[in-house]
Amino acid sequence: MTIRPLVAGNWKMNGTTAALREPRLLAGMLRDVKLKTDIMICPPATLIRRVKSVMKGSKVRLAGQDCHAAASGAHTGDISADMLKDAGCVAVIVGHSERRTNHKETDAMVQAKAAAAHKAGLTAIICIGETLDERKGGKTLGVLSDQLKGSVPAGATAANSVIAYEPVWAIGTGLTATAKEIEEAHAHIRAELAKVMGGEGASTRILYGGSVKPSNAAELMGVPNVNGALVGGASLKAVDFIGIIKAYL
Ligand code: 13P
Repeated sequence: MTIRPLVAGNWKMNGTTAALREPRLLAGMLRDVKLKTDIMICPPATLIRRVKSVMKGSKVRLAGQDCHAAASGAHTGDISADMLKDAGCVAVIVGHSERRTNHKETDAMVQAKAAAAHKAGLTAIICIGETLDERKGGKTLGVLSDQLKGSVPAGATAANSVIAYEPVWAIGTGLTATAKEIEEAHAHIRAELAKVMGGEGASTRILYGGSVKPSNAAELMGVPNVNGALVGGASLKAVDFIGIIKAYL
């Protein structure tokens, strides 16, 4: 089965007006490129419309970094999936480890957010991943099973859901999981998805995230069951991000 890969850039809490230079450059670099992968940028909410505008005419799609589980209401500071859709997004990240840690988000909360994304017509990019302690304790695969079971909502399909495996210890640290570690985790996720999503699991994209850079992208993207990347730091500069996208050209 061929699965069209996805390379998504998560800008996290980075970027003001000056940062619009990078997506503008990226759109230029991609102009004559025949892409074999989908590409998304997940800017901070304040820049979604403006990034979309500077990339007008390119195939790059926009995604949010988080959404609330409710469609609207008294939730100061939060953003709903409908609002992201309205701003021009096609997808939203839910359950990023930084949200799970800094905002105490549980699997149940992540599942509710993913369901809200689906209801709004967005693809949910559902993040899972073990901490260093969990890996050292030999708990990695069990943690991934639990997170998948708890975070993927009913009604998830290959079209409306993407799984991102991001080992917490590899995020922003410069440490990447080895190809062998990634292969093991992704094979496990693929097998577990069959239980959680039935037949849809076989064609659902599983992204790797955690210190993906131009120098390691080709190796990591070549690992079985890796269907793209969720990129943090290296998505902030167009030359780095295109270097990762090139793994698929
Ligand atoms: P880095 O690529 O900066 O390690 O971040 C990964 C990540 O958290 C993407 O969501």
